Amino acid sequence: MSTPGDGGAVVTGAGRGLGREIALRLGRLGWDVHVTDLDEALAVAVASEIRQDGGSAISSVLDVREPDACRAVAQATTAHSGALGLWVNNAGVLATGPVWSHTDQQRRLMMEVNALGTMHGTIAALELMRSAHRGHVVNVASLAGLVSVPSEGVYAASKHAVMGFSTSALCDLRVEGERAIDISCVCPDGMWTPMLFDKLRDPDAAMSFSGTLFQPEVIADLVLRVVAKPRPVTTAPLWRGVQVRLFDLAPGFAARAAPFVVRLARRQQAALVRTLAS
Ligand SMILES: NC(=O)c1ccc[n+]([C@@H]2O[C@H](COP(=O)([O-])OP(=O)(O)OC[C@H]3O[C@@H](n4cnc5c(N)ncnc54)[C@H](O)[C@@H]3O)[C@@H](O)[C@H]2O)c1
Repeated sequence: MSTPGDGGAVVTGAGRGLGREIALRLGRLGWDVHVTDLDEALAVAVASEIRQDGGSAISSVLDVREPDACRAVAQATTAHSGALGLWVNNAGVLATGPVWSHTDQQRRLMMEVNALGTMHGTIAALELMRSAHRGHVVNVASLAGLVSVPSEGVYAASKHAVMGFSTSALCDLRVEGERAIDISCVCPDGMWTPMLFDKLRDPDAAMSFSGTLFQPEVIADLVLRVVAKPRPVTTAPLWRGVQVRLFDLAPGFAARAAPFVVRLARRQQAALVRTLAS
């Protein structure tokens, strides 16, 4: 169980979308929040929102692709709050299209922000948490971290990396005998955030609209429940977690079913466009 008494909380990519909602909620619960984002102005605005709400927050510009910058944020949080209690790796980017369609830069960006960025943040946090013998790292992955996703293959690869890294890192802690530090992954279905705002009519983004499209507030509430009660993997919704794991057990079947699944997803996406237009 992680509580505000454990020290400060870092949230990456907290300037908008899910990260902003997580940061606001942590502030309301009494956490000393370190709001970080690549976009400094967004981070400053969210930190000031938390303070106006009666909470405590500082902000920093942070590019999660920089391991030393992650370490500096961890140190600054400890200096400000006395300890580092929680680190939420939330920053992420998405480009859609068949795996061969991205530029080299797009492919590198997804792997560097989503996969390496999560590793850098986790390592920066663990370097301090392991000497304090307490703390919690929460990594925002995706259902795409658990199954193949047509037209989101590189994104899926980056989120599979998050899952493999996070669950293995938790095992490393337990093998070391460390039981007071937790690593939890949250795997949501699609969320209506700026990440998807420009992809509503993108047929390559259909799989993001194929299940439950959450408001980020709902997933932020779930993340806060995981903060309170650590769990290695939490999927949202639960039924989609079961569904994608079944598909993952049968990759040959998943590949044969992919054309049908994508057609269905595109129909659902088109229906959503019509609903929003009416
Ligand atoms: N939106 C979805 O459908 C969805 C579904 C499942 C999982 N997710 C995951 O949820 C997390 C939050 O996504 P979101 O939907 O709120 O996206 P978003 O695009 O609304 O917000 C992402 C934030 O990350 C920041 N960011 C981007 N690159 C960064 C970098 N290099 N360093 C630091 N910050 C950086 C952006 O400035 C932005 O504030 C991501 O990890 C995403 O992969 C999103």
